Amino acid sequence: MDANIDIALLVAAAQQARGLAYAPYSGYQVGAALACADGEIVTGCNIENASFPAGCCAERVAIFRAVAMGKSAFLGIAVATRNGGSPCGICRQVMREFAPDMPVFIADEVGLVRSTSVAELLPDSFGPEHLGYGAGSE
Ligand code: THU
Repeated sequence: MDANIDIALLVAAAQQARGLAYAPYSGYQVGAALACADGEIVTGCNIENASFPAGCCAERVAIFRAVAMGKSAFLGIAVATRNGGSPCGICRQVMREFAPDMPVFIADEVGLVRSTSVAELLPDSFGPEHLGYGAGSE
């Protein structure tokens, strides 16, 4: 299933992106690396703000960057934190919009901690089909 993804490379990219996090308030740095169907890896880091809700998670930064670059087919995502933290609910919903079945690789500073998937992280999810869009909307 993950045949087209170099998991070690993706995790390394997420760990590297983590170093760019702007997280002066929480001190919790997060990096994400998205494997795009065209073979490119697009990264993101969390970007906080003095007005706390204005900040954005690493996963969404990566996904929104990729979409803004014209890429919306994704093969998998790696997320790196200091302690193997799992993606938040909002990021799970954003992942689900574009890649409801993609694998999610959760890593810490050392390496891969566990592999899961968007479907496993967000069961019984709300999606485009509920609004009459895409497959399953009939
Ligand atoms: N954070 C992420 O970047 N991704 C997640 O999935 C969970 C939380 C960030 C948001 C905030 O900058 C910091 O981690 C602490 O919540």
